[in-house]
Amino acid sequence: MKHFINLRDIPKKDLKKIILNAKKRKIRRKNLNTLDADKDLPLKGKLLIQMFEKSSLRTRLSFYIAIKQLSGGALTLRPDELHLNKGGESLADTAKIISTFGNAFMLRTNSEKKLDLLKKHMTIPIINGLSPENHPTQILSDIFTIEEIKKKPISKLQICWIGDSNNVLNSLIEASVKFSFKLNIGCPKKYQPNRNLLKWAKKNKGNINIFNDSKKPAIGSDVIFTDKVVSMNDKVNKTKKIKDFKNFKVNLTIMKCAKKDAIFLHCLPRGSEVSNDVFLGKKSKVFHQALNRIYVQKSILLYCFEKLR
Ligand code: CP
Ligand code: NVA
Repeated sequence: MKHFINLRDIPKKDLKKIILNAKKRKIRRKNLNTLDADKDLPLKGKLLIQMFEKSSLRTRLSFYIAIKQLSGGALTLRPDELHLNKGGESLADTAKIISTFGNAFMLRTNSEKKLDLLKKHMTIPIINGLSPENHPTQILSDIFTIEEIKKKPISKLQICWIGDSNNVLNSLIEASVKFSFKLNIGCPKKYQPNRNLLKWAKKNKGNINIFNDSKKPAIGSDVIFTDKVVSMNDKVNKTKKIKDFKNFKVNLTIMKCAKKDAIFLHCLPRGSEVSNDVFLGKKSKVFHQALNRIYVQKSILLYCFEKLR
């Protein structure tokens, strides 16, 4: 049994194995319907329990479809309907019950500490479906999308992030170390990435460059990423933060600084950090990116069940 909580703690070779497995499984399903199971029925009879403490559209749908395609089933719990969140039951007891009834637990949470505590008490795999500090399933899936579109290993590409230093960027930084790709980050000086994470990246031979500019990091890049300026966990003055980022909106001028065949990615949902013409333009692969989450969630589940072949 393996947990999937952040990319930093997962060995490089396992992350690569997940991507490879997703590639193979996606090709094999070409003529199947959404809910048809993969022929080998790898998770037959297994139950994925999922819970969202914050909103979700893509993660919810992709995990549901993923477990179905692996021939298992999913049950989504509403946190407001559990005793736990009303103070009527401990986290430890809740964790034990979920472990007794289900075979894997996927949680979107507003607390890193909760993930840690659950890890202690659960006897089934836990998957982090987004936390304040990480969004590992998203970034692993984005690597799959990039390699699929670019037909090259990501280590041969230059990736650029323009925007806030949030959970998605943290996972991208961790991925840049694990997959050895060059990562340029463009953000206002006041919103630099987490210092400890950068230290870790440096110690592990990361190739990460930070610019307080939105055009320089894009020059020569193969992929331009961004995400919302105000994330779900942000307890900030929203109007002020959006104003602070006014020169960091991904528009056609920024896209022109990147390589001619560069693509634009965004995990969604979007806000004011990208212009409509970029988001809906030819270089944008955001809907392809969203759909690919199904394929990578499947291989993440198989990794957790130690069934990756
Ligand atoms: N990108 C992403 O995780 O989307 P949801 O918040 O809709 O799940
Ligand atoms: N950074 C965003 C990602 C949403 C999928 C958030 O945490 O709200």
